[in-house]
Amino acid sequence: MSERETWATRAGFILAAVGSAVGLGNIWQFPFQTGQNGGAAFLVVYLLAVVLIGFPAMLAEFVVGRGAERNPIDAFSKLGHGNWAVVGVLGAATAFWILSFYSVVGGWVIRYLLASLAEGTGLLTGLVGTYFTTAAGDYFGAIASGPDAILLHFVFMAITAGVVALGINDGIETATKLMVPSIVVLLLGLGVWAATLSGAGAGYGYYLSPDIGAIAANWTSILPAAVGQAFFTLSLGMGAMITYASYLGEDDSLPMDGGLIVVLNTLVGVLAGFVVFPILFAQGIDPAEAGGGGSGAVFVVLASAFAELPLGWLLGTVFFFVLLLAALSSAISLIEVMVSYVTDHYDVSRAPAAAGLGLSIFLLGVPTALDTATLTLYNDLAYNVLLPLSVLGVLVFVVWVNVGSSLDELRLGTAAGDGFAAAWLWHARVVTFTGVFLALVFGVMQQLGFSPAELLSSVF
Ligand code: PFF
Repeated sequence: MSERETWATRAGFILAAVGSAVGLGNIWQFPFQTGQNGGAAFLVVYLLAVVLIGFPAMLAEFVVGRGAERNPIDAFSKLGHGNWAVVGVLGAATAFWILSFYSVVGGWVIRYLLASLAEGTGLLTGLVGTYFTTAAGDYFGAIASGPDAILLHFVFMAITAGVVALGINDGIETATKLMVPSIVVLLLGLGVWAATLSGAGAGYGYYLSPDIGAIAANWTSILPAAVGQAFFTLSLGMGAMITYASYLGEDDSLPMDGGLIVVLNTLVGVLAGFVVFPILFAQGIDPAEAGGGGSGAVFVVLASAFAELPLGWLLGTVFFFVLLLAALSSAISLIEVMVSYVTDHYDVSRAPAAAGLGLSIFLLGVPTALDTATLTLYNDLAYNVLLPLSVLGVLVFVVWVNVGSSLDELRLGTAAGDGFAAAWLWHARVVTFTGVFLALVFGVMQQLGFSPAELLSSVF
């Protein structure tokens, strides 16, 4: 086997991990989940989930990845526990599942990018329509599903597979360096504009004043949604962080790197909320209803903002272009997990592996491009079951099965050393484990159509 590569610089790893983390999860999924789960109440539980559950779970994935220096499927055998390879397989399957509808949303982004460009240049308007003179909600309704959505889902998947087939280094690294700062600048600008709208205050109220009573009453549904969102946005439970950490050197501090990734990623999501909710309220749109039961919220909002702003088509073009890059860099990290496994184990090269995987993922996603309700269903299954199950597997392995080596691995490269490792172990065994476990139990019940809240109230 050839010498394994490691990241050239610490910044290289952090940027790649941030590129994987920052994506549609922050800008599309976060406002959508917040809108569906009661606004500020969700925000509070989500932020707690990121800190108390997501961050420690990310360290667990880092420990497996750097310790084994392998892809997620082979990592467990390399660490001496071949039976646990099933956890790696589950992660890869979850990646496969999520990418299938992620790519449909990526197709929506391409559509809005083309429509913005068409508005400015007068080209292609007949083909892609316009969200500048059509009501934003109607435009979303018209493009979100059907043959056009399938076509653009195909295009998004083809670009993803194409980049991976070519090898990822230069393109992705350069794109990531530009992408995260541009997203932040554009969101900040939009946030300032949104603040000037009449009705913005109601949006902030919805987003920022949690009703503690609502959290208490709905915690069995808020918890799985918030934990799922934390995992989705941090790229956990899908093998991506195991893979990326497998290229890390021993002198990197896992807690420092993880902390930075978590903070940067969370800021982008929270910022997206500052844009979306004031605009929704200024237009009198219910966040839970905007565009196909919420899944179109961010598209509806941004389109109506760009339609009103001077040079809106240009802003729209830049914004959707940056969002497309963010979506692609995340999609690439998902498919790369599987491509690297296939090319390591079978006698195929990158290009056919990427093409074959890309095509299968495309086919799996077709039903979600036909109906936004199906897309929500796929998404719920990921949030409620696949993500927590997959993270739970890694966590149990790290904090119970392979605990000695895991702690050694965590200590490597950290100045904090023993104290931090001991605190993390205790916290991960008690708080993180309980949180993920409960999220999984409530999530599975919801998926099966039971209401955990009713069940609990009939027992107690
Ligand atoms: N974290 C990405 C996002 O929030 O859009 C989605 C994602 C990418 C999930 C890569 C998982 C993954 F492995």
